[in-house]
This record gives sequence, C-alpha cells and structure tokens, in this order.
Amino acid sequence: MSRTIKRIGLLTSGGDAPGMNACIRAVVRTALYNGLLVSGIYRGYQGMIEGDISDMNSRSVSNIIQRGGTILKSARSKEFMTEEGMKSAYHNLKAERIDGLIVIGGDGTFRGADEFSNKYDIPVIGIPGTIDNDMYGTDLTIGYDTAINTVVECVDKIRDTATSHNRLFFIEVMGRDAGFIALHSGIAVGAEAILIPESETDNAKLIEELELGWRRKKTSSIVIVAEGDQAGGAFDIANKVETKLKDRYDIRVTVLGHIQRGGCPTCKDRVLASRLGVAAVEALQGGDSNIMIGLKHNKINKVPLEQCVKHNNTINQDLMRIANILSY
Ligand code: F6P
Repeated sequence: MSRTIKRIGLLTSGGDAPGMNACIRAVVRTALYNGLLVSGIYRGYQGMIEGDISDMNSRSVSNIIQRGGTILKSARSKEFMTEEGMKSAYHNLKAERIDGLIVIGGDGTFRGADEFSNKYDIPVIGIPGTIDNDMYGTDLTIGYDTAINTVVECVDKIRDTATSHNRLFFIEVMGRDAGFIALHSGIAVGAEAILIPESETDNAKLIEELELGWRRKKTSSIVIVAEGDQAGGAFDIANKVETKLKDRYDIRVTVLGHIQRGGCPTCKDRVLASRLGVAAVEALQGGDSNIMIGLKHNKINKVPLEQCVKHNNTINQDLMRIANILSY
C-alpha cells in the first residue's frame, strides 16, 4: 500500500551512538530530495510529548556526518510509555502535520515505536542505533563498529602498561545484556579471557586458565568482562580471582564506561547510517509501517518492529572457541 507522506518527524532516542548524526543527515537529505518536509523532534519521545519540534533543512545537517552524539539530543522517556504521554505525543505530531515518523535507537526505542504505531494512525519506521549491536533482524547497529574500535584503542594502551608491569587487567565494557562488544573487541585485542552473558562464566576455570598463562610466562593478561555478565562486574570478578592468584598476579581493574559511546563514527558506521537513513525514507514513502530497517548479509532488511522487540540478536558461539584457542 502506498500513502502520501508529506512531512516526516525524526528523532533519536535511548543511549546515543556514533553515526546517529550521519543517519539524521541521510534521512533529512533523502526526504528533501524526494520533495518531503522534515521536522526534527528533540530529546526523543520526551520532546514529542513536550512539542519540542522544529523544521529541518539541508543546512541543518551540514558538517555533522563526522560528529559523534546526536544533534537532536536523546532521552529515555518513561512518560511516553504511559497512555497520557503517548496521547500528547500523538496530538503534537498532528498539530505539526507530521504524517510519518522515523525513530533511531535501540530496544527501548523500538518498544515505544511498536506500541505507538499500533495505537495511532501514524506509520513508524525504526533504524537500529545502539553501540550494543543487540537488535534482532540486523547484522549491525549504528555505533557498534565505532564503539568496538574505541575499546580496541583503549585496551591496546592498557596492554602496554600491563606488559611493562607484568599485570593482569580486568576491563569492563558496555553492552547492557549482550556480549557483542566484549566478544569482538576481546578477540581483536588478543584477550586472555572474555566473559559474556551469552556463555556461562566458570570462575574456577577462569582461575585455572590464568594460572596456566602465568606458568607459560605470559607477560601481561587481559580479561574482558561484559557489563551484563552473570558472574558480576569486573571488580567482583577481579576480587574473586585475587583471593586465589594473589602470589601470581598484580591485578588492576578498568571500567571503560561512556567513552565507548562517544567519538567520530568510523567509515563503516557512516556508510551504514547513510544506507539505513535513505532506505527508511524510501520505505515510508513506499507505504511501509511499523518496521525496522536493518542490514542482513549486506542487504537492506525489513523486519516488523514486533519481531525486533521479541527477539535478540545472537552471538556466534564459535567466536568464543576461537578466542579460547588464540589465548593459548
Ligand atoms: O544501550 C547503550 C548503553 O551504552 C549500554 O551499553 C549501557 O548499559 C547503557 O546504554 C548505559 O546507559 P546510560 O547512559 O543511561 O547510563
């Protein structure tokens, strides 16, 4: 079904991710190119409720493709998940003559988008933007590639000091309930162990492996801990290991934190953001509603939002095996 869309509302919501600006640029320019108008909605769904909305033109998105963060700002709006909040948001869109919505964000953003487009007559398209890479239906989310490269850069630096002092470091990385950042960056930095929520952490085995590493005369050791690992955060795990390996290792802990969310997007993220942004506008014009635009096997993939919020992206368990072999 095709419907006439004249004005698109665009927002970013949830945790910001590098490449969101490149995607905003792509949506705005594609819409203008196709004769549509664009309204930028500030601070995600909260700005939709409060009517924090302004017109965007081609110059509003000049010189932002290389910038981290989001020029539209972001928020995690609890109010949007209430009936009243959603209703006010809808009335504000109607008042602004917005007849299609594009939301860039992660899981929580899509949950809101799914509910909103089921209740109201405004079609919504979701674009996956989160450093966590945990969205079902897409191989990549905007921001993930930049985040893992940031982690790699930081851990390489920690490796230098770890080697100089023969130390063991536990490094905690983001990812919420998912281990993509930990697993991929862990392989790239040659981590001695990687702890992720998708695979059970066995403390005794970890201690045994670190003991073996010490016997093999490793001059430094890095354990990457995903923040969502069931065994606890990097400090908890380091404390447990220290009680057993005190005479073997001098242990330090680093929590990388929000540094992983900032910075210039990589080329890969900019291209991904540009492709998804163009496809989202075209999908809206073509009559699609309540879907996510992702990328599968390097091709644009459309998935109902309902599916995206029900399922998670899955880890390739073989990568854990590879990481294990290579830490020998
Ligand atoms: O979803 C992105 C993310 O950075 C997660 O990796 C992390 O758990 C969370 O957001 C942190 O959120 P906040 O910035 O609200 O503390």
